[in-house]
Amino acid sequence: MDAMSREEPVRTITVIVNGKAYVRDVADRKNLADFLRQDLQLTGTHVGCEHGVCGACTVLVDGVSARGCLMLAVQADGCSVETVESLAGETPGPSGLGPLQQAFRDRHALQCGFCTPGILMSLTELLRDDPSPDEEAVRIVLSGHLCRCTGYQNIVAAALQAASKAPGAR
Ligand code: FES
Ligand code: FES
Repeated sequence: MDAMSREEPVRTITVIVNGKAYVRDVADRKNLADFLRQDLQLTGTHVGCEHGVCGACTVLVDGVSARGCLMLAVQADGCSVETVESLAGETPGPSGLGPLQQAFRDRHALQCGFCTPGILMSLTELLRDDPSPDEEAVRIVLSGHLCRCTGYQNIVAAALQAASKAPGAR
């Protein structure tokens, strides 16, 4: 048997994504980001470097940020995953955007938007843990993300704007 004709090992996983349960057969070697994009058509999660450096693929797994390119989909079996598509649904304003998304829009915190979904998910984790972070805390979180377009000043400003409106913010 040559390599091309070999059957890929596949497992059945159950995963909750953005509050909805999915049961899917997935190849052992498929990473979580590709699973979300290709199998569930949740293309808001972006894939850049594919080796854990850029942060574009960041999602929340059981509430904790994770690189979707470094985690296998089968490792998410039984887990709850949140992607950027969940953010508008949390507490959407008149524009249909969630508060963090609206702050990014208000502060012009994105240009091409490639890095934005991952940044939004890491900041979502931060704001849940600390509804009123200072600038240093925001910058520490952003140190795990590469943006090739904007520089980071407007992203920091957007995060602090969202923080000032977060429940429990001082
Ligand atoms: S694509 Fe995952 S960290 Fe860059
Ligand atoms: S907005 Fe383009 S890479 Fe960040």
